[in-house]
Amino acid sequence: MSEPKKLFIKTYGCQMNVYDSERMVEALGGNGYVQVDTPDQADMVLLNTCHIREKAAEKVYSELGRLRPLKEANPNLKIGVAGCVAQAEGEEIMSRMPLVDLVVGPQAYHRLPAMEKAVAEGRRAVDTDFPEEDKFDTLNERPRATRGPTAFLTVQEGCDKFCAFCVVPYTRGAEVSRPVERIVKEARDLVQAGVREITLLGQNVNAYHGHDRGLAGLIWDLADIDGLDRIRFTTSHPNDMDDALIDAFGDCSKLMPFLHLPVQSGSDKILKAMNRKHTRDDYLRLIDRIRAKRPDLMLSSDFIVGFPGETDQDHQDTLQLIRDVTFGQAFSFKYSSRPGTPAAERPQLPEDIKTERLYELQALLTQQQKAAQDGMVGREVEVLFEKKGRMPGQVVGKSGFLHAVYVQGPESMIGQIARVRIVESGPNSLGGVLV
Ligand code: SAH
Ligand code: SF4
Ligand code: F3S
Repeated sequence: MSEPKKLFIKTYGCQMNVYDSERMVEALGGNGYVQVDTPDQADMVLLNTCHIREKAAEKVYSELGRLRPLKEANPNLKIGVAGCVAQAEGEEIMSRMPLVDLVVGPQAYHRLPAMEKAVAEGRRAVDTDFPEEDKFDTLNERPRATRGPTAFLTVQEGCDKFCAFCVVPYTRGAEVSRPVERIVKEARDLVQAGVREITLLGQNVNAYHGHDRGLAGLIWDLADIDGLDRIRFTTSHPNDMDDALIDAFGDCSKLMPFLHLPVQSGSDKILKAMNRKHTRDDYLRLIDRIRAKRPDLMLSSDFIVGFPGETDQDHQDTLQLIRDVTFGQAFSFKYSSRPGTPAAERPQLPEDIKTERLYELQALLTQQQKAAQDGMVGREVEVLFEKKGRMPGQVVGKSGFLHAVYVQGPESMIGQIARVRIVESGPNSLGGVLV
């Protein structure tokens, strides 16, 4: 048997890229590749990229710059760019970056094995189509190796919403849902390999329409799988939170009490300019309805500050919405102008205003996050242990609320769910004792 070839893959961006990278490693496994942890000895380096903000996209070009000496030292090294930058700037990468051998967009990963063969023969290969066939149908099935206790599972891809700031509808294409049977089979295989918690992924995961009862229907089907103890989903859009899904937070014990529901802004004027198609009040009423079903729900969101046209009053409205809702955690970003999106054409705000607003917003969110964590002290929660902690004799896992929890305990607890009393709250995690 010939030596396996070595593949180094670096993943940027969202969890869907993490899932896709795993699939690409498996697909290239069929071409004789094994995954390695550094690019130094690799025969192929793949960058799975993100285009969401300018900084994210720039990282790709600086990483390609760092790879140049490796390629000079080893002319047989193949370099590929996958993901959303590949989709958005594929042709440009090929013309500007002769060191790149392969460009593959997010919907064409099932064609990667064939492209790799072309590249091995010394050709360059580009595929940024949105093909008819479902890439996950023809990508290799997940091997039955043992896995950690948590896994991602993509159920839906793409977006039809066209928020005025966002590249995703262009890089990932239109909304597509995978069939229920395939998802259930993949989930069963994961559980057999040791997985106890699955996070369902989609750019708009609650727009899932592969089941006649939508995402809630899928969740209920998955809840029937013995050995699967926890279900989560991300990312959802407020306009796709239907009654069945809201009810599931109250009725389905396997659905964890954590919801990432991006609102972006608390100003009606800005929400409209963003093309979010909901108001601040719609969001607040929705949160009330979900909390009526699950009062201890931990909420998370994304915020953009400095969107074109945002006044100080609009910013204050966002701060007020944060105070009205109270988030357990959140992500916040300065608006980044993206070529080809409608908002990029509008007059932009100065950088220092964006910076100032971001600090103010993050200070409030950090305060709320700390309060949510401190509020856990004295409570008992169930923790699914995932790995060893930093200190000897320590294991770490996640509570249902997605807090990282450390306890003193044997390594054999990894993969187990245990009751833990929270005794301390640190900057980014909780400490507890087994009960
Ligand atoms: N599908 C998800 C989010 C996808 S992108 C949703 O609709 O919520 C993740 C987050 O990146 C977004 O929620 C938004 O807050 C942020 N984002 C997207 N485009 C951006 C841009 N041009 N500038 C700054 N942040 C952006
Ligand atoms: Fe982007 Fe909006 Fe679609 Fe989310 S809903 S992926 S923010 S266009
Ligand atoms: Fe980035 Fe594409 Fe995900 S732009 S956030 S990798 S969908």
